[in-house]
Order: sequence, then structure tokens, then C-alpha cells
Amino acid sequence: MNKKRVLSCIQPTGDMHFGNYFGAVKNWVDMQDEYECFYGVVDYHAMTMPYDVKKLRNNTWELIFNCLAVGVKPDNLFVQSLVPEHTELGWIFNNFAGMGRVENMTQFKDKSIQSKLGKDGFISVGLFDYPVLQAADILIYKADFVPVGKDQSQHLELTREIANRFNNMVGKEYFVLPETKYTATPKIMSTADPLRKMSKSAGEKHFINIFGEEARIRKQIKSAVTSSDTKMSEGVKNLLQLLTACGYNDKADELEKMEMDGTLKYSELKDVVADALVERSEIFKTKKAEIVADKKAIKNQIKDSSSAIRKVAQQTLNEVKDLVGLLNVKH
Ligand code: TRP
Repeated sequence: MNKKRVLSCIQPTGDMHFGNYFGAVKNWVDMQDEYECFYGVVDYHAMTMPYDVKKLRNNTWELIFNCLAVGVKPDNLFVQSLVPEHTELGWIFNNFAGMGRVENMTQFKDKSIQSKLGKDGFISVGLFDYPVLQAADILIYKADFVPVGKDQSQHLELTREIANRFNNMVGKEYFVLPETKYTATPKIMSTADPLRKMSKSAGEKHFINIFGEEARIRKQIKSAVTSSDTKMSEGVKNLLQLLTACGYNDKADELEKMEMDGTLKYSELKDVVADALVERSEIFKTKKAEIVADKKAIKNQIKDSSSAIRKVAQQTLNEVKDLVGLLNVKH
């Protein structure tokens, strides 16, 4: 039986922290046996916000190395700009996406506010069009499932609308309607402010780099906010969640019971969590060092896997051009 297809993508922005890892990339790794997986580093998407041209390419490779270091298989990984068919399909999809719908995307609203706060208040058409390119990322591989966080549900809804309009127009069920696969993965919060998501954009103390120095990881956990009223605080909940995510379920259950009984010492909890994160981080760092030592070969390998994946994309694009009345080599 053919395996079902999974597609997901991530933008090349900076380091990988435990929020990205447990919230998304670990899940990619875990799905690799059961599904046929396509995982993209989407550098075209990274151009939609003001960015530094000197850093983009480097960030793309860095993210590729990071993904490999945590266990994504090289054959499943591609770089979006090495598969330019995404953008061509994106253009075609512009004509199947409704203006009103795209205008309503909350990610666009949020990011355009951020953009307006920038130096010259510039908002690009690319930022507006971002979800249409995302629909192309997904549909070009006829993905059955898209593992993403809840914040992407509107984009997935739009993707299905585009697929539907396309199917209606060409008079057949050409595109599979992809399903969102909300992952059972936890939403890791900032240890410095457990009411907000762990994220890089909030600043240094709000994320823990998975390749970070041991001393720094320990310090960040030590200073984690745990202050509590009568019920378990968000900070303690977050630390227990990190422990569970590291695979120490029993220990986390035990500590949670102690918290309920009021016997848990937070310094102890922090030591256990820091040990668990450091243990993971050491494995990642060792793997990353191996990868970086062999950079050139790894880059070639990813270029090859992108070419192989590109074949799938080319086939879809050819069929689509045929269906919508454009020319391809056949005509
Ligand atoms: N928009 C996604 C994010 O912000 C990234 C993304 C781009 C994506 N293309 C995709 C996710 C296709 C899933 C499928 O996280």
C-alpha cells in the first residue's frame, strides 16, 4: 500500500529553540516511518518581511543543518528556492484565491502591523500573497496531511478553498484536499514569561537554544518563573511539560503529584528539567558538529534531494498547466 503523504515547511529564521523543536520539528522526525514526507525550508517565504540579504542564504543552510542534527532524514528535506515550481504554481493559484479571503488572514494582519512598526512602514505584496505560495507548497506534492500548529489553520482552510475552486474549474477532483494534522506536541512557553510562547522574536531570555551552552541552559532554567498562588502556576506547568517532552513522563507525573501535595521544591524541579534539556542538547550538538565538519558533502546531498523532490513538483506543475490552458512542452 502506498504511504500517505505529509508536507510541512519552516522559515529560515535563526536558531532552533526547544519551542520549535518540541512544537514542530520533533514531530516531523517522528512521522518519517509511517508517511512519505516532504519537508521544506521556505526561503521564498522569508523574503516577505524585511530581511538581510547577506544573512538569508546562511540562515537557510543553518536551518538545514539543524534539522539534520535533530534527526530529519536528508532525503526528505528540500530548499524551496531549489524547487522554483512552487512559485510558478503560486502564480497560477493567485487566480484561484479570493481577494477578500486573503485580506482576512490573521497572520498577514499581525505581520503587517510588525512591518509598519519598522523603519519605513513598508508592507510588501509578497507578505499579502504569502498564504497563496503556502497553498502551492502543499498542493504541489498532493499532500494528505500537513502537520502544523493551530496558528496555521486559516492558511490550511485557504489551501482547501483554492484546491476546491481549482477542481471545480477543471471539472475533476485533481487536488486532494489536505488535512491539517494538529500535532499532539506541546506549546512550549517562555521560561522567563510562561504566559507567552517560547519564541525568538520576543528576545534572548524568551527562548532556549537547543544547541546552546550547557551553562546557559542551566541558568535559563534556574531563573525560570515559577511563582505560584494556590493552583499550579503556568511556569511550573511549562517546566513539567518540558520534562515530559524530553521523555521523562514518569518523573514528571511524580513531580506533579508533589506539586499538588505542596511538597515540591522548585529548585529540585529545575535541576531535573535542566539535566533533561542538557542531555538532549548534548546529543544535538555532537550530531551538529559532525554535520558542520562535513558541510560541503551535506550541502551536495541536500541539493540532490531537492532535485529528486523537484521531479514530483514538476510533474504536478505540468499537469496543472495542461488543465488550465497554459502551454507546456506537449503543446
Ligand atoms: N506559514 C508557516 C509558518 O509560519 C510556514 C509554511 C510555509 C508552511 N509553507 C508551508 C507550513 C506549508 C506548512 C505547509 O510556520
